[in-house]
Amino acid sequence: LRSNQPICWANLLKQPGWYVTGYKEAVAILKDSRFENRMPLPEASKKYTQLKNIQSNMMLFKNQPDHKRLRLLVSQIFTPGMIERQRSYIQDTADDLLQSFRNKKTIDVVSEFAYPLTSMVIAKILGIPEEDRHQFKEWAAGLVPTIDFTRSRKVLDNGDNLAIFLTSYFKTLIEKRKFNPGEDLISLLIKEEQLGERLTAEELVATCILLVIAGHETTVNLISNSVLSLLKYPEQMNRLKDNPMLIERAVEEFLRFESPTQMTARMASEEIQINHATIKKGEQVYILLGAANRDPNQFHYPHILDITRNPNPHLAFGQGTHFCLGAPLARLEAQIAIQSLLANTNNIQLATTNIQFRKWIGFRALNTLQIA
Ligand code: HEM
Repeated sequence: LRSNQPICWANLLKQPGWYVTGYKEAVAILKDSRFENRMPLPEASKKYTQLKNIQSNMMLFKNQPDHKRLRLLVSQIFTPGMIERQRSYIQDTADDLLQSFRNKKTIDVVSEFAYPLTSMVIAKILGIPEEDRHQFKEWAAGLVPTIDFTRSRKVLDNGDNLAIFLTSYFKTLIEKRKFNPGEDLISLLIKEEQLGERLTAEELVATCILLVIAGHETTVNLISNSVLSLLKYPEQMNRLKDNPMLIERAVEEFLRFESPTQMTARMASEEIQINHATIKKGEQVYILLGAANRDPNQFHYPHILDITRNPNPHLAFGQGTHFCLGAPLARLEAQIAIQSLLANTNNIQLATTNIQFRKWIGFRALNTLQIA
Protein backbone atom coordinates (compact mmCIF):
# COMPACT_ATOMS: atom_id res chain seq x y z
CA LEU A 1 0.00 0.00 0.00
CA ARG A 2 2.75 2.45 1.01
CA SER A 3 4.67 2.00 -2.25
CA ASN A 4 1.61 1.99 -4.52
CA GLN A 5 -0.71 4.44 -2.80
CA PRO A 6 0.97 6.42 -0.02
CA ILE A 7 -2.31 8.35 0.33
CA CYS A 8 -5.44 6.31 -0.14
CA TRP A 9 -9.12 6.61 0.67
CA ALA A 10 -10.39 3.88 3.00
CA ASN A 11 -13.10 3.18 5.53
CA LEU A 12 -11.14 1.51 8.30
CA LEU A 13 -12.92 0.77 11.59
CA LYS A 14 -15.89 2.78 10.33
CA GLN A 15 -13.71 5.87 9.96
CA PRO A 16 -13.79 6.96 6.33
CA GLY A 17 -10.92 9.20 5.34
CA TRP A 18 -7.55 9.51 3.66
CA TYR A 19 -4.95 7.19 5.12
CA VAL A 20 -1.36 8.40 4.70
CA THR A 21 1.44 5.84 4.92
CA GLY A 22 4.24 7.53 2.91
CA TYR A 23 6.92 9.56 4.72
CA LYS A 24 7.07 12.41 2.19
CA GLU A 25 3.29 12.76 2.15
CA ALA A 26 3.04 12.63 5.95
CA VAL A 27 5.58 15.46 6.31
CA ALA A 28 3.82 17.55 3.65
CA ILE A 29 0.47 17.25 5.47
CA LEU A 30 1.84 17.82 8.98
CA LYS A 31 3.59 20.99 7.81
CA ASP A 32 0.61 22.34 5.87
CA SER A 33 -1.55 24.70 7.95
CA ARG A 34 -4.51 24.10 5.64
CA PHE A 35 -4.83 20.77 7.44
CA GLU A 36 -6.31 21.60 10.82
CA ASN A 37 -6.07 19.71 14.06
CA ARG A 38 -9.59 18.90 15.13
CA MET A 39 -11.01 17.26 18.20
CA PRO A 40 -11.30 13.49 17.77
CA LEU A 41 -14.90 13.25 18.91
CA PRO A 42 -17.07 14.16 15.96
CA GLU A 43 -19.77 11.63 16.72
CA ALA A 44 -19.65 12.09 20.48
CA SER A 45 -23.12 12.65 21.80
CA LYS A 46 -24.14 15.10 24.51
CA LYS A 47 -23.05 12.44 26.95
CA TYR A 48 -19.38 13.35 26.48
CA THR A 49 -19.66 17.09 26.90
CA GLN A 50 -17.08 17.27 29.67
CA LEU A 51 -14.45 15.49 27.65
CA LYS A 52 -15.23 17.60 24.60
CA ASN A 53 -14.97 20.80 26.65
CA ILE A 54 -11.57 19.87 27.99
CA GLN A 55 -10.23 18.73 24.63
CA SER A 56 -11.42 21.93 22.97
CA ASN A 57 -9.13 23.85 25.37
CA MET A 58 -6.04 21.71 24.72
CA MET A 59 -3.36 23.15 22.46
CA LEU A 60 -3.23 19.83 20.62
CA PHE A 61 -6.72 20.47 19.22
CA LYS A 62 -6.37 24.22 18.70
CA ASN A 63 -5.63 26.00 15.47
CA GLN A 64 -4.09 29.44 14.88
CA PRO A 65 -4.02 31.93 16.53
CA ASP A 66 -5.01 30.16 19.78
CA HIS A 67 -2.54 27.32 19.27
CA LYS A 68 0.39 29.71 18.91
CA ARG A 69 -0.61 31.68 22.03
CA LEU A 70 -1.02 28.58 24.20
CA ARG A 71 2.04 26.79 22.91
CA LEU A 72 4.23 29.85 23.44
CA LEU A 73 3.02 30.23 27.03
CA VAL A 74 3.61 26.62 27.98
CA SER A 75 6.89 26.27 26.09
CA GLN A 76 8.32 29.29 27.97
CA ILE A 77 7.95 27.25 31.16
CA PHE A 78 8.35 23.70 29.91
CA THR A 79 11.80 24.44 28.50
CA PRO A 80 14.63 21.99 27.67
CA GLY A 81 16.54 23.60 30.58
CA MET A 82 13.69 22.85 32.99
CA ILE A 83 13.62 19.26 31.71
CA GLU A 84 17.38 18.90 32.14
CA ARG A 85 16.98 19.95 35.79
CA GLN A 86 14.83 16.82 36.31
CA ARG A 87 17.76 14.55 35.38
CA SER A 88 18.83 13.67 38.91
CA TYR A 89 15.23 13.09 40.06
CA ILE A 90 14.62 10.77 37.09
CA GLN A 91 17.88 8.92 37.76
CA ASP A 92 17.16 8.56 41.50
CA THR A 93 13.61 7.34 40.82
CA ALA A 94 14.85 4.78 38.27
CA ASP A 95 17.58 3.60 40.67
CA ASP A 96 15.09 3.23 43.56
CA LEU A 97 12.73 1.19 41.40
CA LEU A 98 15.53 -1.06 40.16
CA GLN A 99 16.77 -1.48 43.71
CA SER A 100 13.30 -2.65 44.78
CA PHE A 101 13.47 -5.46 42.17
CA ARG A 102 16.65 -6.96 43.69
CA ASN A 103 14.94 -10.00 45.17
CA LYS A 104 12.34 -10.51 42.45
CA LYS A 105 12.67 -13.24 39.84
CA THR A 106 10.52 -11.49 37.25
CA ILE A 107 9.22 -7.96 36.77
CA ASP A 108 6.68 -6.36 34.47
CA VAL A 109 8.52 -3.52 32.74
CA VAL A 110 5.24 -1.77 31.88
CA SER A 111 3.50 -1.61 35.26
CA GLU A 112 6.43 -1.94 37.66
CA PHE A 113 9.09 0.18 36.00
CA ALA A 114 7.95 2.44 33.15
CA TYR A 115 4.59 3.50 34.66
CA PRO A 116 5.82 4.41 38.15
CA LEU A 117 8.86 6.19 36.72
CA THR A 118 7.02 8.38 34.22
CA SER A 119 4.06 9.11 36.49
CA MET A 120 6.29 10.19 39.38
CA VAL A 121 8.25 12.46 37.06
CA ILE A 122 5.25 14.21 35.47
CA ALA A 123 3.55 14.44 38.87
CA LYS A 124 6.63 16.13 40.30
CA ILE A 125 6.90 18.54 37.35
CA LEU A 126 3.23 19.51 37.69
CA GLY A 127 3.49 19.82 41.47
CA ILE A 128 1.05 17.05 42.44
CA PRO A 129 1.31 16.59 46.24
CA GLU A 130 3.32 13.52 47.33
CA GLU A 131 0.30 11.88 48.98
CA ASP A 132 -1.65 11.83 45.67
CA ARG A 133 1.18 10.59 43.46
CA HIS A 134 0.53 6.87 43.93
CA GLN A 135 -3.03 7.28 42.57
CA PHE A 136 -1.89 9.54 39.82
CA LYS A 137 -0.84 6.80 37.39
CA GLU A 138 -4.29 5.22 37.46
CA TRP A 139 -5.99 8.50 36.64
CA ALA A 140 -3.62 9.11 33.76
CA ALA A 141 -3.92 5.56 32.43
CA GLY A 142 -7.72 5.82 32.46
CA LEU A 143 -7.74 8.99 30.42
CA VAL A 144 -5.33 7.98 27.68
CA PRO A 145 -7.73 6.00 25.48
CA THR A 146 -9.92 9.08 25.21
CA ILE A 147 -7.44 10.71 22.87
CA ASP A 148 -7.04 7.56 20.84
CA PHE A 149 -8.67 7.88 17.47
CA THR A 150 -10.49 4.54 17.72
CA ARG A 151 -13.23 6.45 19.56
CA SER A 152 -14.51 3.39 21.24
CA ARG A 153 -17.64 4.22 23.24
CA LYS A 154 -16.59 1.87 25.99
CA VAL A 155 -13.43 3.76 26.84
CA LEU A 156 -15.12 7.12 26.42
CA ASP A 157 -17.64 6.24 29.11
CA ASN A 158 -14.79 5.79 31.47
CA GLY A 159 -12.96 8.81 30.10
CA ASP A 160 -15.79 11.25 30.70
CA ASN A 161 -16.09 10.31 34.36
CA LEU A 162 -12.36 10.60 34.84
CA ALA A 163 -12.30 13.89 32.99
CA ILE A 164 -14.91 15.29 35.39
CA PHE A 165 -12.93 14.00 38.36
CA LEU A 166 -9.57 15.31 37.12
CA THR A 167 -11.04 18.71 36.26
CA SER A 168 -12.24 19.16 39.79
CA TYR A 169 -8.97 17.78 41.19
CA PHE A 170 -6.89 20.28 39.21
CA LYS A 171 -9.27 23.16 40.00
CA THR A 172 -8.81 22.50 43.72
CA LEU A 173 -5.04 22.17 43.34
CA ILE A 174 -4.88 25.39 41.31
CA GLU A 175 -6.78 27.25 44.04
CA LYS A 176 -4.32 25.92 46.64
CA ARG A 177 -1.30 26.93 44.56
CA LYS A 178 -2.69 30.44 44.10
CA PHE A 179 -2.20 31.03 47.80
CA ASN A 180 0.83 28.84 48.25
CA PRO A 181 2.84 28.85 45.01
CA GLY A 182 5.89 26.69 44.43
CA GLU A 183 8.36 26.22 41.61
CA ASP A 184 6.16 23.64 39.88
CA LEU A 185 4.61 23.98 36.44
CA ILE A 186 1.09 24.62 37.75
CA SER A 187 2.28 27.53 39.93
CA LEU A 188 4.17 29.01 36.97
CA LEU A 189 1.16 28.64 34.68
CA ILE A 190 -1.09 30.30 37.27
CA LYS A 191 1.14 33.38 37.04
CA GLU A 192 0.36 33.47 33.31
CA GLU A 193 -3.36 33.11 33.99
CA GLN A 194 -3.18 35.95 36.50
CA LEU A 195 -1.43 38.18 33.98
CA GLY A 196 -4.76 38.58 32.25
CA GLU A 197 -6.31 37.35 29.06
CA ARG A 198 -3.33 35.24 28.03
CA LEU A 199 -4.43 31.91 29.51
CA THR A 200 -7.99 31.21 30.61
CA ALA A 201 -8.87 29.13 33.68
CA GLU A 202 -10.28 26.39 31.41
CA GLU A 203 -7.12 26.34 29.31
CA LEU A 204 -5.02 26.02 32.45
CA VAL A 205 -6.93 22.91 33.57
CA ALA A 206 -6.91 21.46 30.03
CA THR A 207 -3.15 22.03 29.78
CA CYS A 208 -2.59 20.13 33.03
CA ILE A 209 -4.71 17.24 31.78
CA LEU A 210 -2.99 17.25 28.37
CA LEU A 211 0.42 17.08 30.04
CA VAL A 212 -0.77 14.19 32.23
CA ILE A 213 -2.06 12.24 29.25
CA ALA A 214 0.60 13.13 26.71
CA GLY A 215 3.44 13.02 29.17
CA HIS A 216 2.72 9.64 30.53
CA GLU A 217 1.41 6.80 28.46
CA THR A 218 3.48 7.49 25.34
CA THR A 219 6.71 7.49 27.33
CA VAL A 220 5.68 4.28 29.10
CA ASN A 221 5.24 2.75 25.67
CA LEU A 222 8.56 4.09 24.45
CA ILE A 223 10.42 2.54 27.38
CA SER A 224 8.62 -0.82 27.19
CA ASN A 225 8.84 -1.06 23.39
CA SER A 226 12.55 -0.23 23.55
CA VAL A 227 13.22 -3.01 26.05
CA LEU A 228 11.25 -5.45 23.89
CA SER A 229 13.20 -4.39 20.79
CA LEU A 230 16.49 -4.99 22.59
CA LEU A 231 15.31 -8.41 23.72
CA LYS A 232 14.32 -9.31 20.17
CA TYR A 233 17.68 -8.14 18.80
CA PRO A 234 20.29 -9.23 21.36
CA GLU A 235 23.21 -8.15 19.15
CA GLN A 236 21.86 -4.57 19.40
CA MET A 237 21.52 -4.95 23.17
CA ASN A 238 25.16 -6.07 23.45
CA ARG A 239 26.24 -3.19 21.25
CA LEU A 240 24.48 -0.73 23.54
CA LYS A 241 25.87 -2.35 26.67
CA ASP A 242 29.39 -2.13 25.25
CA ASN A 243 28.88 1.47 24.08
CA PRO A 244 26.62 3.33 26.53
CA MET A 245 27.39 6.54 24.62
CA LEU A 246 25.10 5.25 21.88
CA ILE A 247 22.02 5.67 24.09
CA GLU A 248 20.82 8.91 22.45
CA ARG A 249 20.90 7.47 18.95
CA ALA A 250 19.45 4.21 20.21
CA VAL A 251 16.39 5.96 21.66
CA GLU A 252 15.82 7.74 18.33
CA GLU A 253 15.88 4.35 16.63
CA PHE A 254 13.43 2.86 19.15
CA LEU A 255 11.12 5.80 18.48
CA ARG A 256 11.30 5.11 14.75
CA PHE A 257 11.15 1.34 14.93
CA GLU A 258 8.19 0.93 17.31
CA SER A 259 6.61 4.39 17.30
CA PRO A 260 4.58 4.84 20.52
CA THR A 261 2.12 7.18 18.75
CA GLN A 262 1.18 5.36 15.58
CA MET A 263 -1.33 7.80 14.20
CA THR A 264 -2.56 11.35 14.27
CA ALA A 265 -5.35 13.06 12.36
CA ARG A 266 -6.10 16.28 10.55
CA MET A 267 -9.04 17.78 8.69
CA ALA A 268 -8.77 19.64 5.37
CA SER A 269 -9.93 23.26 5.74
CA GLU A 270 -10.17 23.63 1.95
CA GLU A 271 -9.75 21.43 -1.13
CA ILE A 272 -6.12 20.30 -1.29
CA GLN A 273 -4.29 18.27 -3.93
CA ILE A 274 -1.54 15.91 -2.74
CA ASN A 275 -0.07 13.52 -5.32
CA HIS A 276 -3.11 12.09 -7.13
CA ALA A 277 -5.42 12.61 -4.17
CA THR A 278 -7.92 15.45 -4.19
CA ILE A 279 -8.75 15.99 -0.55
CA LYS A 280 -12.02 17.85 -0.17
CA LYS A 281 -12.82 20.45 2.48
CA GLY A 282 -13.93 18.75 5.71
CA GLU A 283 -12.45 15.36 4.88
CA GLN A 284 -10.46 13.55 7.55
CA VAL A 285 -6.83 12.61 6.99
CA TYR A 286 -5.22 9.93 9.15
CA ILE A 287 -1.44 10.11 9.22
CA LEU A 288 0.11 6.75 10.09
CA LEU A 289 3.35 7.88 11.72
CA GLY A 290 4.48 4.30 12.40
CA ALA A 291 4.10 3.40 8.71
CA ALA A 292 5.89 6.57 7.57
CA ASN A 293 8.74 5.71 9.92
CA ARG A 294 9.23 2.45 8.03
CA ASP A 295 9.09 3.98 4.54
CA PRO A 296 11.98 2.51 2.48
CA ASN A 297 12.07 5.68 0.37
CA GLN A 298 13.25 7.52 3.47
CA PHE A 299 15.03 4.93 5.63
CA HIS A 300 17.50 2.32 4.39
CA TYR A 301 16.44 -1.16 5.51
CA PRO A 302 13.57 0.28 7.56
CA HIS A 303 12.61 -3.07 9.11
CA ILE A 304 16.06 -3.47 10.64
CA LEU A 305 16.73 -2.09 14.10
CA ASP A 306 20.03 -0.23 13.96
CA ILE A 307 20.85 1.69 17.13
CA THR A 308 23.58 3.63 15.29
CA ARG A 309 21.22 4.86 12.55
CA ASN A 310 22.18 8.41 11.67
CA PRO A 311 20.57 10.61 10.45
CA ASN A 312 17.22 9.43 11.73
CA PRO A 313 14.55 12.03 10.90
CA HIS A 314 11.65 9.93 12.24
CA LEU A 315 8.16 11.33 12.75
CA ALA A 316 7.47 9.72 16.12
CA PHE A 317 6.98 13.15 17.73
CA GLY A 318 5.05 14.51 14.76
CA GLN A 319 6.24 17.44 12.68
CA GLY A 320 5.35 21.11 12.14
CA THR A 321 3.49 23.41 14.51
CA HIS A 322 2.17 20.62 16.75
CA PHE A 323 5.57 18.90 17.11
CA CYS A 324 5.63 17.20 20.51
CA LEU A 325 6.33 19.72 23.25
CA GLY A 326 7.46 16.97 25.60
CA ALA A 327 10.04 15.39 23.28
CA PRO A 328 13.05 16.45 25.44
CA LEU A 329 11.40 14.94 28.53
CA ALA A 330 10.41 11.71 26.78
CA ARG A 331 13.93 11.33 25.39
CA LEU A 332 15.61 11.96 28.75
CA GLU A 333 13.31 9.57 30.63
CA ALA A 334 13.81 6.81 28.07
CA GLN A 335 17.59 7.26 27.93
CA ILE A 336 17.92 7.08 31.71
CA ALA A 337 15.42 4.21 32.10
CA ILE A 338 17.01 1.98 29.46
CA GLN A 339 20.58 2.69 30.42
CA SER A 340 19.88 2.12 34.13
CA LEU A 341 18.04 -1.13 33.42
CA LEU A 342 20.94 -2.45 31.33
CA ALA A 343 23.55 -1.28 33.86
CA ASN A 344 21.75 -2.87 36.82
CA THR A 345 20.99 -6.26 35.31
CA ASN A 346 23.29 -8.97 34.02
CA ASN A 347 21.33 -10.74 31.41
CA ILE A 348 17.69 -9.75 31.00
CA GLN A 349 15.42 -12.19 29.21
CA LEU A 350 11.79 -12.42 28.25
CA ALA A 351 9.90 -14.30 30.96
CA THR A 352 7.01 -15.15 28.63
CA THR A 353 6.43 -15.89 24.98
CA ASN A 354 2.99 -14.30 25.16
CA ILE A 355 3.59 -10.73 24.00
CA GLN A 356 0.39 -8.77 23.48
CA PHE A 357 -0.14 -5.22 22.34
CA ARG A 358 -3.31 -3.33 23.30
CA LYS A 359 -5.93 -3.12 20.60
CA TRP A 360 -5.59 0.63 20.14
CA ILE A 361 -5.13 1.93 16.66
CA GLY A 362 -3.39 5.14 17.68
CA PHE A 363 -0.79 3.76 20.07
CA ARG A 364 1.79 0.98 20.05
CA ALA A 365 1.25 -0.13 23.63
CA LEU A 366 2.22 -3.38 25.30
CA ASN A 367 -0.18 -4.83 27.85
CA THR A 368 2.66 -6.20 29.93
CA LEU A 369 6.32 -7.05 29.41
CA GLN A 370 7.48 -9.70 31.84
CA ILE A 371 11.26 -10.01 32.02
CA ALA A 372 13.51 -12.20 34.16
C1 HEM B 1 2.18 16.43 20.74
C2 HEM B 1 4.16 12.01 20.51
C3 HEM B 1 5.78 12.46 25.07
C4 HEM B 1 3.39 16.62 25.44
C5 HEM B 1 2.63 15.22 20.29
C6 HEM B 1 2.48 14.75 18.93
C7 HEM B 1 3.01 13.50 18.87
C8 HEM B 1 3.53 13.19 20.17
C9 HEM B 1 3.07 12.59 17.65
C10 HEM B 1 1.86 15.54 17.76
C11 HEM B 1 0.41 15.20 17.55
C12 HEM B 1 -0.15 15.87 16.33
O1 HEM B 1 0.57 16.50 15.54
O2 HEM B 1 -1.37 15.73 16.11
C13 HEM B 1 4.77 11.76 21.72
C14 HEM B 1 5.56 10.58 22.01
C15 HEM B 1 6.01 10.71 23.30
C16 HEM B 1 5.51 11.97 23.81
C17 HEM B 1 5.80 9.44 21.04
C18 HEM B 1 6.86 9.80 24.12
C19 HEM B 1 7.65 8.89 23.62
C20 HEM B 1 5.31 13.64 25.56
C21 HEM B 1 5.60 14.17 26.87
C22 HEM B 1 4.88 15.32 26.98
C23 HEM B 1 4.19 15.54 25.73
C24 HEM B 1 6.52 13.52 27.90
C25 HEM B 1 4.76 16.29 28.12
C26 HEM B 1 4.89 16.05 29.38
C27 HEM B 1 2.86 16.91 24.21
C28 HEM B 1 2.07 18.10 23.93
C29 HEM B 1 1.71 18.03 22.58
C30 HEM B 1 2.29 16.82 22.05
C31 HEM B 1 1.70 19.20 24.93
C32 HEM B 1 0.87 19.05 21.81
C33 HEM B 1 1.77 20.04 21.11
C34 HEM B 1 0.99 21.02 20.26
O3 HEM B 1 -0.17 20.79 19.95
O4 HEM B 1 1.59 22.05 19.94
N1 HEM B 1 3.29 14.26 21.03
N2 HEM B 1 4.76 12.57 22.83
N3 HEM B 1 4.47 14.49 24.89
N4 HEM B 1 2.98 16.17 23.06
FE1 HEM B 1 3.96 14.42 22.93
